[in-house]
Amino acid sequence: MAKYIIQGGNRLEGEVEIKGAKNSILPILAATVISGEVSKISNIPQLRDVEVMTKILLSIGAKVEKEGDQLLIDTSSIDKTQLPEELVREMRSSIILMGALLARFGEVSVSYPGGCEIGPRPIDLHLKSLRQMGAIIEESHGFLHCRSLGLQGADIQLDYPSVGATENIMLAASIAEGRTIIRNAAREPEIIDLQDYLRKAGAKIKGAGTSVITVEGVPSLKGCSHRIIPDRIVAGTLMVAATITKGEMVVKDIVVEHLQSTVAKLRETGANIFINGNAIKLIGPERVEPIELLQTLPYPGFPTDMQAQFMALLTIGNGTSIINETVFENRFKHAEELVRMGANIKTFGKVAVIKGVKELTGARMYAKDLRGGAALVLAGLAAEGITEVENTFHISRGYENFHNLLQGLGANISCVK
Ligand code: EPU
Repeated sequence: MAKYIIQGGNRLEGEVEIKGAKNSILPILAATVISGEVSKISNIPQLRDVEVMTKILLSIGAKVEKEGDQLLIDTSSIDKTQLPEELVREMRSSIILMGALLARFGEVSVSYPGGCEIGPRPIDLHLKSLRQMGAIIEESHGFLHCRSLGLQGADIQLDYPSVGATENIMLAASIAEGRTIIRNAAREPEIIDLQDYLRKAGAKIKGAGTSVITVEGVPSLKGCSHRIIPDRIVAGTLMVAATITKGEMVVKDIVVEHLQSTVAKLRETGANIFINGNAIKLIGPERVEPIELLQTLPYPGFPTDMQAQFMALLTIGNGTSIINETVFENRFKHAEELVRMGANIKTFGKVAVIKGVKELTGARMYAKDLRGGAALVLAGLAAEGITEVENTFHISRGYENFHNLLQGLGANISCVK
């Protein structure tokens, strides 16, 4: 299995353009199923999760063609509604196809996605909402069998602003009969991007970006073209890379608004940040200042998908920092790896206390999930000596050619198979 070998100590310098957001692409690819026509989705980086989603679409009969950074998806030929178990297990977010297939075909079978490295991640909110819209869902032997004789609009109050559940309901509601209201909806930028795609496809939907989304069901959707928004988490990860290496970087082609919570916390660590249109310039501080409290929250709060990278940064902070991970139950797997590099971290359930040390030392480590894996690479960039990060496939789920990107910015990193 591939691993990264990093010789720490190089300052990262340069400019980088940010491509499309993984967490926008996945639900939008699922949404293309509804129309049964051809959609053209652009600004797509090469990511393992996108490959898995493409394989799932192919396995149910869709035709997918890649042209540069565009995917042409023809969903007219879909003739199956059972999703392949091994691919669903590989990528939990394939559950997003439930709403889309149910809407178009009135049935879908999918293996229960189960837990994963960042916590149990139940899908109760997805199921409850779809049931409220008239879906009949039976769970047996680890499979979910869903059918409906036509979904009905419903007034849905989410107990938690779940990103995936909000997206699943938006898809199911787009061609359901009547009006659906989603209250306490997730407000992430990726939800707005999905709304933008659905509108181009002919859906009547409004409110994305606020806590109340309203969808007036229409009889059918049509194919359309859509460009994916930039990946705020990739941008944030690179900004942490510049901060941790005392570097200087410009991230371009971003939506600054989507990065405000990350920018605010990086400023607390002493980074100098200059905003110019759709670009951010960052100059890393000589010594990283600690953060009194970093609390992950649904958007516009600080994103859980940036928590691991900040933990890596705070290990070399000039004092003690506290992280409270409120979104996922078990998202500190990277802490025990960072400790092997000399970091001083104690975790208590959802809270981590990080006492900054002067320097990390290179070690051999295992990426256990996507963002945690990226965090280990960041720590390796700043550490004294050589760091090896095994299981890089986790990282390739969400970062396109991560080591090449970092090399281009001056990092001494290589990938060995
Ligand atoms: N939850 C439930 N029941 C549900 C759904 C969610 O209890 O039915 C809980 C989860 O267990 C979790 C919390 O609600 O504790 C938040 O989950 P949410 O549904 O919002 O997350 P998701 O849709 O599964 C997406 C991203 C994640 C990101 C989260 C939070 C995609 C494909 N994934 O997951 O991205 O961390 O929102 O922002 O959009 C990543 O990119 O590394 C990643 C994990």
